[in-house]
Amino acid sequence: MTTWPGYQSLKRSLLATLTGQVLEIGAGNGANLPLLPPAIDWTGLEPHPRARRALSQAATAAPGPRRILDAHAEAIPLPSASIDVVLSTAVLCSVDNLSAVLSEVHRVLRPGGRFVFMEHVAAPPGSAFRRMQRMIAPITRVVDRGCDPSRDLAPEIEAAFADVDLTRYTASGLFKIPFIAGTAYP
Ligand SMILES: C[S@@+](CC[C@H](N)C(=O)[O-])C[C@H]1O[C@@H](n2cnc3c(N)ncnc32)[C@H](O)[C@@H]1O
Repeated sequence: MTTWPGYQSLKRSLLATLTGQVLEIGAGNGANLPLLPPAIDWTGLEPHPRARRALSQAATAAPGPRRILDAHAEAIPLPSASIDVVLSTAVLCSVDNLSAVLSEVHRVLRPGGRFVFMEHVAAPPGSAFRRMQRMIAPITRVVDRGCDPSRDLAPEIEAAFADVDLTRYTASGLFKIPFIAGTAYP
């Protein structure tokens, strides 16, 4: 297990690698906007109306080309092979159909493109934290825009992409939340 660098530090180092035309799925309120390299051409996809309004405001203030899409990542309204990087941070826990999302990510990526992700995942099977994640999932699904903390996302990402560079972390602090972060190549 690699040492946890901290949520913001890890995110900052991943986002610093973004280049070209970037699609951020589940962009939320736009928390990642200040961390994006100014030179990229960014499109943020967000299905939740309230989050999308905040995202639009944040995107207006951000430098560089910034566009917003009202859509779910299960059906990305962009042409195939049109994007250099798809970004996802804390989104795959919430989507309704994970395999459809990963297939759409695959479809929109250009040859040589990549999927950059940072996601919280399920704790190891049999652990007390995993049991707690399963217990609170029905509540978080309702109050936290569909978030299911008991999903182990790594096997699905590894199955959907030809080459996956993935690191597992455990967050420090009171709750030892497990995270994965990395890059997947079609
Ligand atoms: C926990 S928030 C993370 C927001 C942002 N990525 C961040 O790191 O601050 C999860 C976001 O995923 C969005 N979301 C949920 N289901 C989705 C779907 N099927 N397709 C795209 N986004 C989705 C939610 O509306 C929410 O804004």
